[in-house]
Amino acid sequence: MAVTTAQRPSALEVMRDAPVIPVIVLDEVAHAVPLARALVAGGIRMLEITLRTSVALACMEAISREVPDAVVGAGTVRSAADARAAANAGARFAVSPGYTHAMGQACREQGLALLPGVATASEIMAAQEDGWLALKFFPAMQAGGPALLKAWHGPFPEVRFCPTGGVNAANAADLLALPNVVCVGGSWLTPAEAVQAGDWARITGIAAEAARLHRAAGT
Ligand code: 3PG
Repeated sequence: MAVTTAQRPSALEVMRDAPVIPVIVLDEVAHAVPLARALVAGGIRMLEITLRTSVALACMEAISREVPDAVVGAGTVRSAADARAAANAGARFAVSPGYTHAMGQACREQGLALLPGVATASEIMAAQEDGWLALKFFPAMQAGGPALLKAWHGPFPEVRFCPTGGVNAANAADLLALPNVVCVGGSWLTPAEAVQAGDWARITGIAAEAARLHRAAGT
């Protein structure tokens, strides 16, 4: 595979590694390592751990230390402080729901690849102005889904997207067929009840199915 686990990937390398980036919410540190192993076993290595729980940073540290084949990313990065904390916890890429110049700068200073979140043409232009061309489209299905991605392809042919929000096993293929979509993001790979029950085999199965999704040629 292109990215070795010792490297910090670029945003496009993060997006190209597999067709899906799992959006992960962890409530217990004890779940972090077995969950990461289950996803890696299914072929999904780029893991977005959201900064939505008090244990998120500890989970990133544990996975970075104990699952060398996983590449830990931080999700829900909303500020420069979040970016610094994530980098200190071992994150190698960041995903944000929206975009600010200060947060983008902090990611650059920390050497973190960033998938900045956008939902409008003006937000794409602001991110582009700062040099970001691999973007998260959030909340994808609520904001316009495949139709909006098609509309953006005209004015922004060089921009690549990871639609996230309302994406699932049923609609992922339609998004991945678009020429400006490299991968999708979603929480469907890690159902809360499976994590709580420690049903890692089920998660490996969902991940393996996600890893087999096809994307458009040339993205
Ligand atoms: C995100 O946090 O990026 C999205 O809320 C994930 O959305 P989903 O739960 O609809 O996949």
